[in-house]
Amino acid sequence: MAKKQNTRFVCSNCGAAHLKWQGKCPDCNSWGSVNEEAMPAPSLGFRKGSEGLKASSSKVISLDADCELPDVSRFSLGISELDRVLGGGLVPGAFVLLSGDPGIGKSTLLLQAVYEAAKKGQKVLYCSGEESASQILLRAKRLGHLHPNIYVANETNVDAINATIKEYAPDMLVVDSIQTVFTPDIPSAPGSVTQVRECAAKLLDVAKSTNLPVWLVGHVTKDGNIAGPRVLEHLVDCVLYLEGEPNSGYRILRAVKNRFGSTGEIGVFEMSGDGLRAVPDPGIQFLEHFNAQGPRPSGISTTVTMEGTRPLLVEIQSLVTKTAFGNPRRVVTGLDNNRVAILLAVMEKRAGLYVSLNDVYATVAGGLKIVEPSADFAVVVAIASSLLDRPIAGRYTFVGEIGLSGEVRGCAHVGARISEAAKMGFERIYIPEASLKREFNSDRSGKVTETKGIEVIGVRSIASLDRLGIW
Ligand code: TYD
Ligand code: MG
Repeated sequence: MAKKQNTRFVCSNCGAAHLKWQGKCPDCNSWGSVNEEAMPAPSLGFRKGSEGLKASSSKVISLDADCELPDVSRFSLGISELDRVLGGGLVPGAFVLLSGDPGIGKSTLLLQAVYEAAKKGQKVLYCSGEESASQILLRAKRLGHLHPNIYVANETNVDAINATIKEYAPDMLVVDSIQTVFTPDIPSAPGSVTQVRECAAKLLDVAKSTNLPVWLVGHVTKDGNIAGPRVLEHLVDCVLYLEGEPNSGYRILRAVKNRFGSTGEIGVFEMSGDGLRAVPDPGIQFLEHFNAQGPRPSGISTTVTMEGTRPLLVEIQSLVTKTAFGNPRRVVTGLDNNRVAILLAVMEKRAGLYVSLNDVYATVAGGLKIVEPSADFAVVVAIASSLLDRPIAGRYTFVGEIGLSGEVRGCAHVGARISEAAKMGFERIYIPEASLKREFNSDRSGKVTETKGIEVIGVRSIASLDRLGIW
């Protein structure tokens, strides 16, 4: 009989288990992520002679209109941008995973959140395996966030954390980070897939049975996934990402999963000398040239992008120069590289704007990333403006996706975008003609409608760019 295998090989990227070691995980194609781990003990239900398989039936509830509803009163954390991303506050028993690059400000944000909670009389247990208690104390002192209701423990044994929860009965728990926590039941190292999954499951058990809200800090890998197990994402109620360019002071908090609210909401923070400061009106922050007085340089345009339900005005900057060598350079930050390449081809073919002998640089001001295709129009205008060296004549903004035939295609949330542009003091907004028809029931092409003090212009195609009065 073959010897019973007591180790297995688990991919730390996707969690897949293999019988043999392999250089490349066949499931997720990542290299060098397969590590040896001890076989987990078989679950009770499948042990020979166990009674585990004979289970009694479960209690079921009917989704009746007048059934008894559980208490989901949300607790406001007192940080407006954090509450917004959570969907209006923290739900009792919520299991929230906060992840982001190292040094982006996860521990700082959580320290600020627990301080606000402590001020409201909540007892908080902060378990840290990353920093020592004295380091946390020093940071709290520097931020002015010392409070007797915050209890710090340098604990990484998940059973000890559970025992501490039983003894101190906190109203909120922070575990910083889940990759440092371990359970002695499993022989593999902290941070391995089995450890992370098992520890999270143990904490989840406590959170759900005692209605304790739990914050887990999770690391991300170099390609931006939550390090180790994607399995964590399935386990938790909310997954929040804190992101931002290391060189810019702005941090964006994004919900990618939320069982208690909408995803796609963002919160904007600014890293300052005294921690992360919420930026409740980010529109002003991402417009550099459009708030300044005086002449505007060429190559600058703006768009209104939707981040969740929130319209956000952002500035797109472009520079087009003669190519010094044979191969023109295209350098893009904050926008999709391929998308910009398509836009350049469309400009050349449909609008007669020849860029193939030029280097093109395009960026989004403020270190923001835009994924929405409705920013296309503004990108085209910025590049054209730099190519022709003609600055945009006034405070105009542009919304719309550009199709391959140069048409400006309709987009969603036009009303909200127009209102935001008007609120920010813009004089004119160029939108897709189809959206103009839908929004204002007007079928005259390029009709100008005065609304909310802003001129709205419908555009059908970028072929007519020169006749739109942009420059
Ligand atoms: P931290 O919260 O420790 O990051 P993480 O837990 O995500 O690894 O943040 C560390 C960075 O934040 C550090 O590089 C310095 C910066 N920072 C400030 O600029 N101001 C501050 O008040 C604080 C506390 C940190
Ligand atoms: Mg940290």
